[in-house]
Amino acid sequence: MARPFVVGNWKMHKTIAEARALAIAVRDGARAFPEIDVAVAPPFTALAAVAEVLKGSTIGLAAQTMHEATHGAYTGEIAPTMLRDLGCTHVILGHSERRHLFGETDINVMKKARAALDHGLVPILCVGETLQERETSRTFDVVERQAEHALRHITPQEAAGCVLAYEPVWAIGTGKTASPAQAQEVHAFLRKLVARSHGDSVARSIRVLYGGSVKPDNAASLISEPDVDGSLVGGACLETGSFLGIVQASRG
Ligand code: 13P
Repeated sequence: MARPFVVGNWKMHKTIAEARALAIAVRDGARAFPEIDVAVAPPFTALAAVAEVLKGSTIGLAAQTMHEATHGAYTGEIAPTMLRDLGCTHVILGHSERRHLFGETDINVMKKARAALDHGLVPILCVGETLQERETSRTFDVVERQAEHALRHITPQEAAGCVLAYEPVWAIGTGKTASPAQAQEVHAFLRKLVARSHGDSVARSIRVLYGGSVKPDNAASLISEPDVDGSLVGGACLETGSFLGIVQASRG
């Protein structure tokens, strides 16, 4: 099995001072779990401060989104080159909040994924169905369309190092977690898709994270599923104890 990977998506939370304090606590606390890969995704405004804290550690630094162009007249946007300049290692792309609240499309995610890799950033590619899509039996169609676009212009060699994140929209911030069996079913489906498009060995190497109300008390049962390689954590990553609790529970 791939090394477990736990990513904290801080979303639109934390001032610079708060971000620095949380990053220090995560950095120091995660040393007790060297068998788990950990990354944090602070808001843009705190990336520089957190990069400073994480320098020399093994903790990854992710942005929460980016534009695909390297520069240009794109008011309010951030380029992959700028993220690299800040010390980012990863970027979350196609988060459901970006898709549903800010109109990000599959084509946007496809371009951004290519741009991330072109600039040395590991994309964390999010897919996931809404409650209505699940209830109308469209879960597999939706995640297939999203994952296929996200990986379309990525070579097998690159895809092996990418990260997929299955985040059912109905489980995000709702306290309603997908059951381990529900997560496993979609993760196995995603791995099969990757095997078809990029080959079996890529499907085995690519890490597939689960996101949606992951907490210290449900992380262990999720990670125990064969195709769940870790988690993308929202609410529970904002506090050191609960985030490290999830890291600890991910040892399997
Ligand atoms: P919650 O853990 O708050 O449900 O958020 C999940 C998420 O969206 C992580 O990207």
